[in-house]
Amino acid sequence: MADTTEATAVKGFRSAELGWPELHRIPHPPGRLPLVGDVRGASPRTPVQDSMRMGRQLGPIFRRKAFGKEIVFVGGAELAADLADESRFAKHVGLGVANLRPVAGDGLFTAYNHESNWQLAHDVLAPGFSREAMAGYHPMMLDVSERLLAHWDRERAAGRTVDVPADMTKLTLETIARTGFGHDFGSFERARPHPFVSAMVGTLTFAQQRNTVPDPLAPLLLRRATRRNDADMAYLNETVDGVVRARQASGGGDGDLLDRMLETAHPETGERLSPENVRRQVITFLVAGHETTSGALSFALHYLSAHPETAARARAEVDRVWGDTPRPGYEQVARLRYVRRVLDEALRLWPTAPAFGREARRDTVLGGVHPMRRGAWTLVMTALLHRDPEVWGADAERFDPDRFDAAAVRARPPHTFKPFGTGARACIGRQFALHEATLVLGLLLRRYDLRPDPAYRLRIAERLTLMPEGLRLRLGERASSSSPGSAT
Ligand code: HEM
Repeated sequence: MADTTEATAVKGFRSAELGWPELHRIPHPPGRLPLVGDVRGASPRTPVQDSMRMGRQLGPIFRRKAFGKEIVFVGGAELAADLADESRFAKHVGLGVANLRPVAGDGLFTAYNHESNWQLAHDVLAPGFSREAMAGYHPMMLDVSERLLAHWDRERAAGRTVDVPADMTKLTLETIARTGFGHDFGSFERARPHPFVSAMVGTLTFAQQRNTVPDPLAPLLLRRATRRNDADMAYLNETVDGVVRARQASGGGDGDLLDRMLETAHPETGERLSPENVRRQVITFLVAGHETTSGALSFALHYLSAHPETAARARAEVDRVWGDTPRPGYEQVARLRYVRRVLDEALRLWPTAPAFGREARRDTVLGGVHPMRRGAWTLVMTALLHRDPEVWGADAERFDPDRFDAAAVRARPPHTFKPFGTGARACIGRQFALHEATLVLGLLLRRYDLRPDPAYRLRIAERLTLMPEGLRLRLGERASSSSPGSAT
């Protein structure tokens, strides 16, 4: 449960010097400039990759300052494990997450720990992610996957390459829309992204950009961007209001997330979500429910195409476990253990939600070394944690799904793999994402030979989330002639 008794609720940006009495012991990049801070060699477009570079130079904990705002970053496994102690630390809603408050308000992802709507919505919506609920979503996930396969079949027949991030976004948006809200955005019937996606990307990019512009200059420097962001938010609101209205007019769905939001009372208090909060939750789930999964699938497909021996092993597993069944069952997805390892390894190297904030519930000492006052906070850089050589070895940068075989996982200390965050505020959609992504990878592997463009070098686009940029694949016939059943 998130903490509701201790005050962890100070709002607004808290610069590190307010909460870290011995801040001077934490290194910062050389060449700090007066007024502007540690901006040398940093770009507002690549805050995560810049922090990764600095972390490699500066060690497991470091700080960056820009325009008077100082932030402490943690990338080392030992300190990150200490921050996972829920009795001393809680989620911190800051930076990009706080910047999403105007659109997602007290929805699950952006709620402050003290806001009562967090617990209410968590308790009402958690059953929507039970095993039983997941088994119910499975056939719908298959239906959406079949639309992707049909689209890729057409592209292959026409001799065209496929735009992986764009198509994975279509797939994951349709999946969460269909399973959660009984809605169809018609993404596969469109040549361009659905305007919902463009508005969402605009809002996420703005939230990231807002971090890098000093407050007093924001009205001036971001005037046009703010206007565009207002229009994007209005579009997101309009879209979800339409989805809710359609449901209310239809008299109810089949017990999906939207039904829960609209109709389920809290099992103990009898309280219900307000219409305003429902709007916040629908936006939250439509965005959080697809953007990061789309990135995870895209990175996994990149690595599969770049490592044919991994793809062959994964494909052999799909053939063995699924045989020629045209529509694999719910249980058959969890049995794709190696495919799941590929996904985990892609999420290790590029955790698509690349950081999470933690704040001290009371005065404490991080790692027994760094004193923190109550409310002081830090950002765990997940991609650094996932590459800490102390845990992952000297070859931590190398793609190797066997790092996730059961014995290797057991041998690692806890809290070293955190793509879904930690504690009470960890991802509610974890199983949903893993099931969906494993299913889709299985279907794609058994149908296509994934051929990379030999000239492609992985580039990362940042918009709060991470996505491989410009990734296109050519789809070949499967190398093996025993290509079993199709899903369509
Ligand atoms: C690979 C895919 C995904 C990744 C990497 C991911 C990652 C994360 C992370 C790191 C957090 C914690 C953020 C923080 O501490 O500030 C989070 C929270 C959350 N995620 Fe996900 N997520 C994924 C998929 C999903 C899906 C499919 C859904 C919904 C269907 C979802 C809904 C949420 C929600 C509602 C929260 C807020 C939970 C709370 O605070 O109670 N996510 N996610």
